[in-house]
Amino acid sequence: MDIDRNKQERLRSIIEDFTSVSTIPVILKKVLMVVEDENSTAVDLEDIIKRDQSIASRIVSVANAPFYGRQRKVESISQAIFLLGFDMVKSLAISVAVFSNIIYKGRYDIRALWNHSFNVAIASSLIAEKTGRAGMDSAFLAGLLHDIGRAILLQIFGDAYFDVSASGPEGLLEREEVAFGAPHTLTGAWFADKNKLPESCVKSINFHHEPERCLPDKPGDKCRALAQIIHIADVLVTTDNKGYEHDCLPSPEYDGILKTTGLKEEDIAEIQKRLDSMKEEVRNFYFL
Ligand SMILES: [Fe+2]
Ligand SMILES: [Fe+2]
Repeated sequence: MDIDRNKQERLRSIIEDFTSVSTIPVILKKVLMVVEDENSTAVDLEDIIKRDQSIASRIVSVANAPFYGRQRKVESISQAIFLLGFDMVKSLAISVAVFSNIIYKGRYDIRALWNHSFNVAIASSLIAEKTGRAGMDSAFLAGLLHDIGRAILLQIFGDAYFDVSASGPEGLLEREEVAFGAPHTLTGAWFADKNKLPESCVKSINFHHEPERCLPDKPGDKCRALAQIIHIADVLVTTDNKGYEHDCLPSPEYDGILKTTGLKEEDIAEIQKRLDSMKEEVRNFYFL
């Protein structure tokens, strides 16, 4: 397929300048500005988050989620930053701000995408725990943000994005590329990169549909292992999530990927069971 380079460049610069897109809410702009600024500290982030009750309460409740296995109850943003770490809170703030503040009232159900992302985040961290091939935190974050490109494309293109995604998962990435200049995978990776998320997170967003294309840059680079985990989680959650017109078919290498991770059918079944038991809990996050 020929890639329209001009279109791709245009989209890339929109994503790079996402904070200046007039349709994004002030709070999201502020969060993004803080995380983009190399000199910003946890206190700057805390200051912004504290002023937005809906973002603050979501972050605190995510920090307290039982699946997350914290021993101590998190009661404030400063405590969340202390217990979860700056990177984690930064990424939670980005995802909560992007998802809950998107000004898009079209036909696409943004809550379904939020729900899907949360489920993939949980499934990813459970798979990371089971296989020991990535940290639970990084798997959770990459899972939470894996489809952030879809949320951003929706924000920018509105129902035009809905129309492209509505025809189903077959060939979705190609259709997105033709229509907008880049698929949601690359769009999300640009956004994550611009916001200085860890490289393994950026790469696994980029390759979550085709982890076999994720090539390590240097020895010891664990990006592919993380991309594989996100892919398995995505396929697992998609299978279960019939109401969501999703996006990710198993890669042609899927069986090989499962083998590499050492996951057995009974492990998958167990993870599925744990996900099912958390359904209510997950609903509470995006309906807060
Ligand atoms: Fe996706
Ligand atoms: Fe997905």
